[in-house]
Amino acid sequence: MRVAVANNKGGAGKTTAIAHLAEALADRGRHVLAVDMDPQANLSRRLGYGEADLSDMVTAAEVVAAHRKGCAADAIVGCRWAVPAAERIDLVPARYDLEARVAEAGQLGSHERLDIALSGVAEDYDVVLLDCPPSLGHLTQLGLAAADTVVLVLRPEYDHLQGAIRVRDFVAGYRRHLGRPDLAVSGVIVNEHDRRRGLHVWHADSVADTFGDLVWSPPVPSRAVLAEAIDAAQPLRARGAAARPLLEIFSTLADQLEVRADAVA
Ligand SMILES: Nc1ncnc2c1ncn2[C@@H]1O[C@H](COP(=O)(O)OP(=O)(O)OP(=O)(O)O)[C@@H](O)[C@H]1O
Ligand SMILES: [Mg+2]
Repeated sequence: MRVAVANNKGGAGKTTAIAHLAEALADRGRHVLAVDMDPQANLSRRLGYGEADLSDMVTAAEVVAAHRKGCAADAIVGCRWAVPAAERIDLVPARYDLEARVAEAGQLGSHERLDIALSGVAEDYDVVLLDCPPSLGHLTQLGLAAADTVVLVLRPEYDHLQGAIRVRDFVAGYRRHLGRPDLAVSGVIVNEHDRRRGLHVWHADSVADTFGDLVWSPPVPSRAVLAEAIDAAQPLRARGAAARPLLEIFSTLADQLEVRADAVA
């Protein structure tokens, strides 16, 4: 199952959701491939590959440029977290120059290049998580064209909801052009939910009104320990007792990914 994680709004928690869903899935024995399609390379760093490591690695940029069946295999590296589950998480990393692929957007069929690169490779994994940048441009289109389903991540705030709606409508409007006529949103993760903020309670209702039973629960609360894990490029499992409730939340979200996304994939 290949899942594109998207929102046409930055800072929603897309990369966070991928890193810690991967952790939850690997904890239960699943094999996960995380594909970084964002030139910010945040996912790559969080799985252990910083700017200096990436400079001489094969990354998504080379994979997309190569335009060869299965060539994503050339870029795959292991997650560097110091926990046993890391053995079951692999990564196709990104570098800032993934941005250069945007220049190829006008070439016929160029949106299919990631799909072609993953062909014969994605099948080795239970779940492939594609981290899209906060745009609807070529890099996100490469991710969508390589995906069986889409999961949206948003904060319960107006601009985040609008960004998520734009992705949903873009997918519905252009899925045929992307070569994925059945592509649709199968889940919405609400992140950084703060129950003390009236605004968040209000918008959580708008999210439910807009996306109905596509909204997965529970929402991910705003927690310092999660921000710390993100900052230190560590799994939640390395952050002690304070991270335990979040491990449970991501495990419950991983249940929904396995059941709901798998049903449409
Ligand atoms: N639940 C949370 N609790 C606390 N902090 C969080 C939480 N989720 C995200 N953050 C903070 O928000 C920042 C942005 O999250 P993240 O990088 O996952 O968003 P993104 O949607 O991938 O952003 P971009 O659009 O730039 O790719 C993180 O660096 C982290 O500091
Ligand atoms: Mg991100």
